[in-house]
Amino acid sequence: MKTKNMILGSLILSIVFITSISSRNDNNSVSISPKVQDTLITGQELFRLNCAGCHGTDLGGNPPNYPALTDIKDKLTKEEIRIQIKKGKGMMPPMSHLSDNEINAIVNYLFGENGNEQVTMVAALSPIEQGEMLFKSNCAGCHRASSNDPKPQNSGTQMCSMMEPAVLAGASKRFTKEEFLNILETGPCYMPSFSYLNKEEKEALYAYLKTLEGKGEAKRPTMGEKCPMIKKGRSCCGGGQN
Ligand code: HEC
Ligand code: HEC
Repeated sequence: MKTKNMILGSLILSIVFITSISSRNDNNSVSISPKVQDTLITGQELFRLNCAGCHGTDLGGNPPNYPALTDIKDKLTKEEIRIQIKKGKGMMPPMSHLSDNEINAIVNYLFGENGNEQVTMVAALSPIEQGEMLFKSNCAGCHRASSNDPKPQNSGTQMCSMMEPAVLAGASKRFTKEEFLNILETGPCYMPSFSYLNKEEKEALYAYLKTLEGKGEAKRPTMGEKCPMIKKGRSCCGGGQN
């Protein structure tokens, strides 16, 4: 595994290096080409960031609600999967914010086509943009960003303990960054744990939520305000077990 990572690391470095050299020759100038700022990422990583919350980092899913994707290539064509990612289905939210490039990398990974080693060039994201992408893929099915947004598709279903989870504009005022990290680590009530996201990724989510302050915040006190246990990442529903 270590060696794989090292190979991947040096591959990424050399590609970035080659791109920067060639762009210098092409333009006859030393200005940084946009390609250099783009990011190389594997389909597997994109899957972790956008799909693993429901389908598992190992594609095992969480049946019966969240199907396993291990043998998906025997069931659906690549095109069918691309359409399902863009449009969503049932409790799977549409992910129209992903680029074709990103979707193709994910689908190739699902088809077992060098997901580990193959790197795909995608547009580099600032932490706030990364937070927004993570929000849309992982949180928007249950939480509205702003109370001006339409109701999330899964609110009021069993998936969200039959209610609508808090609007997240203003969550960065209700919770310190540390409290927010606790909440994501365990996931209170019916909220899943996001322990497979690393600290930077969780902080990117927090940075995105900060940009929502004052933009349609929750009108009534949220459960996190009424129940301080939430700040420690503990549940307040169903007897506080989690
Ligand atoms: C919020 C949870 C959630 C997320 C995030 C999610 N999915 Fe799904 N996915 C589902 C659910 C629920 C279904 C079953 C939908 C149905 O048939 O009603 C599903 C079904 C699928 C299927 C079809 C499975 C089958 O056996 O028919 C594919 C393929 C799929 N998802 C791929 C993805 C990919 C790729 C991503 C990330 C880009 C993703 N999903 C993100 C919940 C999710
Ligand atoms: C399956 C539904 C579901 C998903 C997906 C989900 N949550 Fe939650 N979340 C809940 C529920 C249920 C609660 C507890 C009830 C409440 O606080 O409204 C909660 C509570 C929270 C709280 C405390 C809110 C407050 O002010 O009281 C925060 C913060 C939070 N979630 C952030 C997130 C983030 C960030 C994501 C995505 C990475 C996410 N949630 C994904 C269901 C979900």
